Amino acid sequence: MTIVPSSINGAIDPDDESGIKAADRKTKAGPAGRSEVLSAKENPSDRRSDLNLRPQSLSEYIGQERTRAMLEMSIAAAKSRAEALDHILFYGPPGLGKTSLANVIAIEMEAKIHLSSGPALERPRDIIGLLHQLEEGDVLFIDEIHRLNRIAEELLYPAIEDFAIDLTAGKGHATRTMRLPLPRFTLIGATTKAAMLSNALRDRFGFVCRLEFYSLPELAKIVKRTSGILNIEMDGKGVEIIAGRARGTPRIANRLVRLVRDYAQYKGHKLVDEEVAKVALETYQVDMQGLDPTDRRLLSILIETYGGGPVGIEALAASLGEDSDTVEDVYEPFLIQCGFIQRTPRGRVATAAAYGHLGKTAPLGQLTLKLGNDAES
Ligand SMILES: Nc1ncnc2c1ncn2[C@@H]1O[C@H](COP(=O)(O)OP(=O)(O)O)[C@@H](O)[C@H]1O
Ligand SMILES: [Mg+2]
Repeated sequence: MTIVPSSINGAIDPDDESGIKAADRKTKAGPAGRSEVLSAKENPSDRRSDLNLRPQSLSEYIGQERTRAMLEMSIAAAKSRAEALDHILFYGPPGLGKTSLANVIAIEMEAKIHLSSGPALERPRDIIGLLHQLEEGDVLFIDEIHRLNRIAEELLYPAIEDFAIDLTAGKGHATRTMRLPLPRFTLIGATTKAAMLSNALRDRFGFVCRLEFYSLPELAKIVKRTSGILNIEMDGKGVEIIAGRARGTPRIANRLVRLVRDYAQYKGHKLVDEEVAKVALETYQVDMQGLDPTDRRLLSILIETYGGGPVGIEALAASLGEDSDTVEDVYEPFLIQCGFIQRTPRGRVATAAAYGHLGKTAPLGQLTLKLGNDAES
């Protein structure tokens, strides 16, 4: 495989979010604009660099040990029986490696992969057309599978359970149903919202795997690997700084590597060390914990406007100027993961750690709440 350093593509692309210009744009965007830097959602520049960065085998896939061990066994077993792998559902926040894992599975199974997504399968003929293309042992990947509509979902049931499609022809009394056999294939579904999947669909997967946020050592491995592929010279401290601010998410780790590379190139630094990495990330307003200005504003609204909570998600989102779905899906998971926000039946609550992160002292009530929760767990 030839590897094109994406610096060549990135530096001259005016739309590239990773460029220095993007940093200027973002700093000027003001407090209302969410910086794209730390969004776990995929942007066009991620997509371009993904071509080089996607792991090509299970052994190149870093972390998610439990899921990997399970897959390794199941793939070996399926291959030794010359059968298709059982259907698999991956769920978890964006950027943790669901699509990458689906690709790796297809490579390991030496199978062809067909890529689609819930929203793309709007009409019955979309899904029938897709199923019709499948050959024995193929992998069918459906991203955002929670967004499949009812009709598509019902066409999918017999396909994944009995490897057949039920087609109806005619209307009224003349309606006839025909069952067409399909080759045995593997469906891999991915979703960020497992709760929105119907039970009927979820139950039809042989494996349901939750992807976890990555540990610091795992992120450091990913940062090292990415800088190797992109031909960036980086020392151990530089790696550590980037890994520590990547919010447990490989997609963000890779994006920060590209940003730091652009900064280093622009400033003429040959080596990315602690200092270069720190200053570069400060330019993009990424703080020590990987929080960006919107995260900090959310915490500060929670603390200052709502006295640390509890406050309902709707009110919090309205004060932030975002819709509540975005707050719930994009900002909150990481703030909860960091232990800055707790979800309680009465609403969101700032923890003592959140006060500490903003350089404030938590009132006594917040501290007792924290102690109370610790005692429970
Ligand atoms: N376990 C991993 N090891 C190495 N790189 C990874 C891993 N998981 C994800 N990545 C990188 O992060 C990027 C985003 O992963 P992706 O599979 O698109 O996430 P998702 O589909 O869950 O949103 C990929 O391009 C890949 O380069
Ligand atoms: Mg994906």
